[in-house]
Amino acid sequence: MAMKTLNCLRRPALHLRSLIPPRQSPIKICIAQYSSHSPMGSPATNTRKKVTIQTIQNLYKKNEPITVLTASDFPSGHVADTAGMEIVLVGDSLAMVAMGMEDTNEVTMDEMLLHCRSVNRAVKSAFTIADLPMGSYETTPEKALESAIRMVKEGGMKGIKLEGGAEMAPTIRKISQAGIPVMAHIGLTPQRQHSLGGFRVQGKSAAGAVKLLRDALAVQKAGAFIVIIEAVPPEIAEIVTRRLSVPTIGIGSGNGCSGQVLVQVDMLGNFPEGRFLPKFVKTYADVWGEARRGIEAYREEVKSRAFPSVEYTYPVSKEVLEEFEKVVDEVAEKE
Ligand code: KIV
Repeated sequence: MAMKTLNCLRRPALHLRSLIPPRQSPIKICIAQYSSHSPMGSPATNTRKKVTIQTIQNLYKKNEPITVLTASDFPSGHVADTAGMEIVLVGDSLAMVAMGMEDTNEVTMDEMLLHCRSVNRAVKSAFTIADLPMGSYETTPEKALESAIRMVKEGGMKGIKLEGGAEMAPTIRKISQAGIPVMAHIGLTPQRQHSLGGFRVQGKSAAGAVKLLRDALAVQKAGAFIVIIEAVPPEIAEIVTRRLSVPTIGIGSGNGCSGQVLVQVDMLGNFPEGRFLPKFVKTYADVWGEARRGIEAYREEVKSRAFPSVEYTYPVSKEVLEEFEKVVDEVAEKE
């Protein structure tokens, strides 16, 4: 239930004292409404059944593409879930798109957890997965399991994602054997950009493609229930996908994967013109333009006093207004 605080006038004129409580003790009035700022105030927008691992496996068996989108906070999780995404990924790309960092390596476990909790409050149906950030899982499988458990218990996530291929097999095994679903991430792994020589397409040479296949088979064998393949030529990603018995999710890897993922801010066009975008990003909307137009219109109307017009205000009766006007001078003088 929302609480509203009324700040009231101090020492009002005698005949108004019964109406106006003293300012020193603001009163709290309980009203049976949520604040307009509360997401709970929005109508129920999602009536889908909960997406489970079984749902994802069924889609895979039916050869129906699996939809995945990133989210980093309550509104982005809410809209992704409402729009029917099967998986909502709290990717560590939020370091850049939600926190303005240079790359994903800076974001910490505690920061990721904060974003996970916000997304988790919004997502009612989709299967939620969060990235283990750099530094939270590479040293030992035990450390990785501890981090994965935090993502579930403190972040409210259903599964975790981690970057790396065959070398991460013991870690993936440890986490999945503890009952936490693991999404593996192979191909271009942004946390390792410096050892890859930057954001480069992977699996382009025959040797690179063989490594990719080996990585895919190793993470599958270790227990990953789904595998992200990033920035790999479509033919290679498709062959790897056909060799696996778990779904692959492509990003910059063509449509032969079992599903697709994009970063929400990118695909919604929520950035100013001129920003660099990877080749694989298709923008489906112009959220930046729409937001900017709205904010500029608001600015104009505030400056010209066109906003707020009467329909955006609360009425007061003529009698109350007259009574108030009679005592205004008296009250003001005594203050
Ligand atoms: O961090 C992220 O958002 C990701 C996806 C783009 C796959 O890893």
